[in-house]
Formats: sequence, C-alpha cells, structure tokens
Amino acid sequence: MSLATLLSLLGLAALVSALPQQSSVSTIPTTTTFTDTTIYSTVAVATSQASLSSVLSAAQITQAANATAHGAVVPFSAKCPLPVTSTTTSSKRYAPTISWPHLSGGKYINWKTYKANGANLGGWLEKEKTHDPIWWDQYASDAADEWTFCQTLGKKCGAVLEARYTSFLNTSTIDQLASVGVNTLRIPTTYAAWVKVPGSQLYTGSQQLHLRSITNYAITKYNMHIIIGLHSLPGGVNNLDIGEALGHDAWFYNATNLEWSFLAVDAILAFIATNWILTYLNGVLKRVNLFNRKIPVMIQDCFQGASFWAPFFDSSDNIVFDSHVYYFAAAGTYSEYVLPAICGQAAYLAESETKFPTFVGEWALQVMFNNTLAGRKEVFDTQRYAWEKYVAGGSFWTAVSYATTAVDGQGTQRDYWSYIDLINTGVITTATNASYCE
Ligand SMILES: *[C@@H]1O[C@H](CO)[C@@H](O)[C@H](O)[C@H]1NC(C)=O
Ligand SMILES: *[C@@H]1O[C@H](CO)[C@@H](O)[C@H](O)[C@H]1NC(C)=O
Repeated sequence: MSLATLLSLLGLAALVSALPQQSSVSTIPTTTTFTDTTIYSTVAVATSQASLSSVLSAAQITQAANATAHGAVVPFSAKCPLPVTSTTTSSKRYAPTISWPHLSGGKYINWKTYKANGANLGGWLEKEKTHDPIWWDQYASDAADEWTFCQTLGKKCGAVLEARYTSFLNTSTIDQLASVGVNTLRIPTTYAAWVKVPGSQLYTGSQQLHLRSITNYAITKYNMHIIIGLHSLPGGVNNLDIGEALGHDAWFYNATNLEWSFLAVDAILAFIATNWILTYLNGVLKRVNLFNRKIPVMIQDCFQGASFWAPFFDSSDNIVFDSHVYYFAAAGTYSEYVLPAICGQAAYLAESETKFPTFVGEWALQVMFNNTLAGRKEVFDTQRYAWEKYVAGGSFWTAVSYATTAVDGQGTQRDYWSYIDLINTGVITTATNASYCE
C-alpha cells in the first residue's frame, strides 16, 4: 500500500503538508499528536466486520507472537509499603534554579534532552465525574462515566458537552499555566474525538475545534509542547470510565475495534504485555514512521516501567515512555514520608530509563494519608524538581479540577489536583524553593 493510500485511509492526508510545530504521538499505551492547520472531519471508513488478517495486512504488520520476551520489571513495588514508624525526615529544603526549555516554531521534541514542566488538561475533552462533579450532577448524577452520561442525556448530550468544553477551561487557564513556567500540555481525548464508531455512546462533535483553538493559543503565544493522548479505544480497554466505559474491555482480540483504533491512531494498555498490545503498538509505530519519523510516539508503561517494554523496540525508534506516579494510590504513603519517597522514586525511574527517555505524564499532590494544606508546596516542588532532575520532566494531573471529595487529612481533592487553584493560592510558583531532593 502506498503512503498516500495509507494516509487517506487514516483520514490524515490533510496533515501531510501541514505538520505542526511541536508534537508527540502518545496513547495508552501510545499517543498521537495532530497539529495540522486545518480541522479535518472524522472518518468512518472502518468495515463493520473486519477480519484480523485484512486489518494486519492493511497496516503492513504481522500479529506479534513474542510477548514473553519482555524485559524485567524493577521491583519497586516490593519496597511498598514504605516504612512509616521510625523515619526521621530532614528539615532542609532546596531551591534549585531550573530553566525549562521552550521550543521555537517548527521544532520537534527530542525527549532525550527535553524537560517537561507540564500540566494535563484532564477531564476537559475526556470527561471524568471526579473532576467536575457539580456540573456533572446537574445533568446525570447517576452516571458514573461519560458513556452513561451521554446515554442518559440522549440527543441533548452534544450540546451539554459542547458548552462545557468552552466553560471548563479557556485561554486564561493557559495564561496562568504559562505564568509559572509550564511548557507542556498533555491533553487526553476519547477516541470519539477522532472517529465516530457505530454504536458508541461517546460523543463525536467539535472536540477537534476546541483542541485546535486552545493548542494554537498555547503554541503561538507560549511555544508550549502539546501531547495529545487517546485515553480510550473502541470496545474499552481497561474496564475503567477512562477506557471507554466502566466494565468495557472488548477492545482486546476484536479486529474491528483494532481497525477503529488504527483509524484513530492511538491506544491503551491493560495489565499484561500481550501480543495484541504489541501488534497494536507495532501498527502505531509503522504508521507514525511512514508519516514522519520525527514525531515521538509516547507509550504509557502501564506501571511496568520502561525496562519491561524496551526490548520490543529498536533503539532507533522515536519512543518516549510515559510513567504515572500517584502517591494517593499505587505508591500510597503518608504525607510525612512522601518527600524522601519522591526522590527515591525519581532515581528509580531514571534507572529503568534504558534505551528510551521517560516522562512522568501524570502526577498530583494528594497522598494516601494525612494530607496537609501547608505541606503542598514541598510536595509540589519536590516532585516537579525530581522529575526534571532525573527524567524528562512531567505533567501534573490536572490543570483544572472542580473535585469535591474530601481527602484523608485536610481539604478536598480540588486542593491537591487543580493546578490553577494551586497557582491562585501561591502553592505553585515559578521558583522552586521547597524541594526535599537536592
Ligand atoms: C476560565 O477557566 C477558569 C479555570 O482555569 C475558570 O475558573 C473560569 O471560570 C473560566 N472563565 C470563563 C469566562 O469561562
Ligand atoms: C519480536 O518479534 C518481532 C517480529 O515479529 C521482531 O522484530 C522483534 O525483534 C521481536 N522482539 C523480541 C524482544 O524478541
């Protein structure tokens, strides 16, 4: 198949002559960035019942059969739970000077040298009840995910979502993020922003226009780097709301859904390294390489670490791994002991940075126990600095949150997850002066 055929199959032909300023491809497991200058319409060219062999041959790949050849997982989780009884933490805090890179127009990121000072525009084009409960409950308080939200609202869903895309955040949000040095935006979208899959309850509307308008602003005014994430795949990837809908995992071993995924050019990863996931990743890499090898493909490591995935890819592949660090959950700990844990975890992430660079695509301030409002600055400064010092930086989850759930200790989730509120209350400043790591 010729490149032109492949691209038009992808609905991407319009991108060829108009590739963006600064882009990364990223999904879960991979992500793709679209930053053309024209909005192209979504395509619906997948066949209704694709055969796996036709999908694979159209993608110029074969089905992966070597999932067992993955690399080792550095057993960091074996060190959890962290000791909480006899630790004395130092009272010394550091004030490193950090200079965040800002790319000028037309440049692609080299993640081997880039340092991200990022924020996610989470819960914006991919809605999560947690981060917008007051708005959500006005319309469909019983709905636990976007799928059911739209199912409940029926034909009204589009108008309700379109209005929220505009009111949830705006260009002044970007101004505020820029004011404290944010140079990277990671923006999750559902697959429905890119393809209209028959039977899907997820809304396909003008997400691309909203995305275009915010990213144009961030790029032209601040030279920000944009990572567009496909946060879900047709059929559902991980049984979570963010994977399509709660309880959905029909993406696996369904050729039609794979075809739709390739058409959306993106994906997600479940718990284990399956040949299905590798087949998909190989197809994404192939597409991106045919399109433009300079576009990095970002692969979310599914909490396995970069070393697990590295053997499957050639060091010449333009790959960056995306690792998520959340101390309120998997790496859960007490606020009193989180600071040394951050420095240690950053060093661990750097260790597993084998052939490819690592980016901490999601992190936040909430810890499992004893959250304190006064402690937020040091938890923030320590993480932002540690990700910069040891790996390729990170992006905070999330720029705007209206979450209302109480945390263990003081305050609500919004006090620990809303970057904009943290700027407004003086927790996030351009300067780093409360880092526990040296
Ligand atoms: C712009 O976004 C901020 C969140 O960053 C929000 O607080 C504000 O209400 C929005 N402004 C408008 C006019 O919608
Ligand atoms: C897995 O198989 C592919 C061919 O299907 C090959 O290119 C690659 O090197 C193999 N990877 C490992 C880690 O064995």
